[in-house]
Amino acid sequence: MTTGTSRRTVLATGVTGAAALFTGCGGGGDGADGTSASEGTRGAGEALAATADIPVGGGRIFKDRKVVVTQPQEGEFKAFSAVCTHRACLVSTVADGTINCPCHGSRFSITDGAVEHGPAQVPLPAEQITISGNSIQLG
Ligand code: FES
Repeated sequence: MTTGTSRRTVLATGVTGAAALFTGCGGGGDGADGTSASEGTRGAGEALAATADIPVGGGRIFKDRKVVVTQPQEGEFKAFSAVCTHRACLVSTVADGTINCPCHGSRFSITDGAVEHGPAQVPLPAEQITISGNSIQLG
């Protein structure tokens, strides 16, 4: 019983630590602009693109919104922060199943944002999108 409680405590701490680390990386290089924008000024429900604009097996980067939208399989859309988790450069291309950072060569999966190639060690955070008909909206 005591062991179970200790273990749960450790696990909870681990999750909190990971969340803190994740948050720190996501907003770190971007400062007030990136972190607060995703929660505040970036309008929910704002049209971002048409579904036809996103290539199947690829994606498109919206630099002004700091978002990359991908379509790993036909009809399946994902969105991630376009700010590299390594040193906060904006990713620049989507090719061969990865979202690519020009600064130091990190590559992230178009499916889940996972690191496919370092030096980044933290996945690109997911962004919320909504598909309405053939329109993709942030939020
Ligand atoms: S900032 Fe993207 S790889 Fe270093």
